[in-house]
Amino acid sequence: MVFPVTRMRRYRKNSKIRDIVRETKLDKEDLIYPIFFKEELQGDEKEPIESMPGEYRYSLNAGIEFAKQLEEKGLKSIIVFGVPLPESKDEVASPDYSSTGIVQRAIRELKKQTDLVVIGDVCLCQYTSHGHCGLIKENDDTDDGVEILNDESLEYLAKVAVSYAKAGVDIVAPSDMMDGRVDAIRTALDENGFYNVMIMSYSAKYASAFYEPFRAAADSSPTHGNRKSYQMDPANALEAIRECELDVIEGADFLMVKPALPYLDIIKTIREEFTLPLVSYNVSGEYSMIMAAIEKGFLTENAILESLISIKRAGSDLIITNFASYVLLNDLL
Ligand code: PBG
Ligand code: ZN
Repeated sequence: MVFPVTRMRRYRKNSKIRDIVRETKLDKEDLIYPIFFKEELQGDEKEPIESMPGEYRYSLNAGIEFAKQLEEKGLKSIIVFGVPLPESKDEVASPDYSSTGIVQRAIRELKKQTDLVVIGDVCLCQYTSHGHCGLIKENDDTDDGVEILNDESLEYLAKVAVSYAKAGVDIVAPSDMMDGRVDAIRTALDENGFYNVMIMSYSAKYASAFYEPFRAAADSSPTHGNRKSYQMDPANALEAIRECELDVIEGADFLMVKPALPYLDIIKTIREEFTLPLVSYNVSGEYSMIMAAIEKGFLTENAILESLISIKRAGSDLIITNFASYVLLNDLL
């Protein structure tokens, strides 16, 4: 009996063999943790995010302490999101580029108190009274009667990026999807002497239903209309290549695909077409689906590493994920 000569199961005989033939590895360095700093919270306060089981919004102090705890567990980088005072929001996102804004303060403390690579998400939506990622004006020729102004928004996004740079940020990550924002931000950073601040562009960011838990967490839903006139149509793949090409031309240092799991094909395509470090954003909805199922006993926590490894296998170098804290604190890696 010689059949079968080639037996694939030899590779799977035990964990030692499986370990040495494993093609894709997930390391602690691959994970970027998104953290929410909420201006309203004082002292050591933190509040649970209902839409994201296990996740919290932090006061400045509580968030810094949590970041230190994750750093001790092997975290290398963190992306900062701000939840400003609701009454401070206005039409032009003023609290977003204030030197004493919640994100600017968090960046300063993280740089002072940790060795983490500090990334700042650059967008207007948490700070505008209307919740859009850019400035708006009425326009009947749109789905909702409101136009999200492109060129006018660039100036404000650039101001945000420069204010983060002044606070000491390592990388700015524009998530607004306005055309030309990478160029506008690169130019403004360079003019202010911040030529070493990197740009991690949300290059192919889709208009996704999977952001809903984040918007509830960050109080950043648009008050009217949706984001379909600036974020990408989920049906489009070739367009993702054009978005990335433009970001490369404009001077991006990292490319990003967002969300991750429903867009693994896009991650693979961008990996094959470009040579820049590639980031994937495993978004709030992807996190909450799995965490809710684990809480109900429908899934085990093995689903977490399986989904993260799939994102790496598709070709991503780095993964922004709320699972970073769960994975590190529970020693899953
Ligand atoms: C804001 C922003 C969003 C996310 C990151 N930055 C939401 C949105 O575009 O509405 C989503 C992150 C997540 O869902 O985890 N521009
Ligand atoms: Zn936004």
